[in-house]
Amino acid sequence: MTVPVKASANYNDNSKLQQQAISSMMALLPTDFQGKSITVADYGSCEGQNSVLLVHQLLSALPDLRAANIIFNDQPNNDFSCLAKTIEQNMQALACNGRLDVFPSMIPRSFKEKVIADGSVNVGLCNASLHWLSPESPGIGHQYFPPMSVAGPVAHQELVSFLALRAREILPGGTLILGIAGKGEFSFEPGLRCLSLAIDDLESDGRIPASVASTCRSPVYFRTAEEINMAVEAEGSWTISGRHDTALPEASELWLARGQKPGEDSQNLDEEFRTKLCDHLSSTIIGSSGNTILTAVRKQTGDFDEIRLLQDLSDRFKHHFFEQFTTGIGGHFYYLRLSRK
Ligand SMILES: C[S@@+](CC[C@H](N)C(=O)[O-])C[C@H]1O[C@@H](n2cnc3c(N)ncnc32)[C@H](O)[C@@H]1O
Repeated sequence: MTVPVKASANYNDNSKLQQQAISSMMALLPTDFQGKSITVADYGSCEGQNSVLLVHQLLSALPDLRAANIIFNDQPNNDFSCLAKTIEQNMQALACNGRLDVFPSMIPRSFKEKVIADGSVNVGLCNASLHWLSPESPGIGHQYFPPMSVAGPVAHQELVSFLALRAREILPGGTLILGIAGKGEFSFEPGLRCLSLAIDDLESDGRIPASVASTCRSPVYFRTAEEINMAVEAEGSWTISGRHDTALPEASELWLARGQKPGEDSQNLDEEFRTKLCDHLSSTIIGSSGNTILTAVRKQTGDFDEIRLLQDLSDRFKHHFFEQFTTGIGGHFYYLRLSRK
């Protein structure tokens, strides 16, 4: 089965669901910041499209502001050239049409370490980035879904540690807004499982070196609301000053066009609609993680046929998804506004 992959393997072009998550997060942005100049840090910016939307929304709601330092952070293997272009293309919007002097910077370092000097940030943001666990944590390794009994305690510890690090960077009275992809009716899990199987296939065929395939499998854990609360309480530096959660089904427009709720009557779906869903999912999942996989392969092997590799990955993904067809794909996002005590 060969269906063309969407031309783009960029996160920016394939993260509409995360963009919806960002829209929900906007309701929690602080509107009572008093100073003339602000420092905002976005943790896990990826290629930046969604981050600039969120930062723009924050800055434009603060009419007395005159200057902003904006720090975009991600892991060193992120596509920082793409992030730089996104920032450049959005400078006018970030500067609120000239009202603000804007000073953007990019920090390539894991947010599991200190990223910014102590006491230097007013508002921290982090969307759709905290469900990834460190492969280096005990018992985790390079597998998408580590055993729950190991992953649960590690996820707790990693969130506690993230909150403690941010409590050093964010000033007392400052704010941290989190959007966490967690457990719920809709889940990314089936899609990630099929991606993992597709990577396995290309590894067995010798198309992706074993060492690269291994680094492409980033462990995830989807927390419950209770688990998130427990981590905030255990860490102790933050008060929860706002919260809500939302279910975000993937491909909702395809379901709505049929007059059905996402996931409804999933036993009786015709072949044509299953194919449509599968194409959509393959575009978003392979599209949003494609760049990371291509970069990892490029580093190890030099030049290769990138379009062909993406196409093969997409074909394998679709094959597995058809075999294990399931609906209910998407995310459940938990949003928190935390105030630094
Ligand atoms: C799904 S993207 C979310 C991007 C953006 N925040 C948004 O809302 O669209 C997750 C990003 O988190 C980043 N990330 C995951 N773990 C990280 C870590 N330990 N340090 C920094 N960035 C991390 C990934 O590299 C990826 O770019």
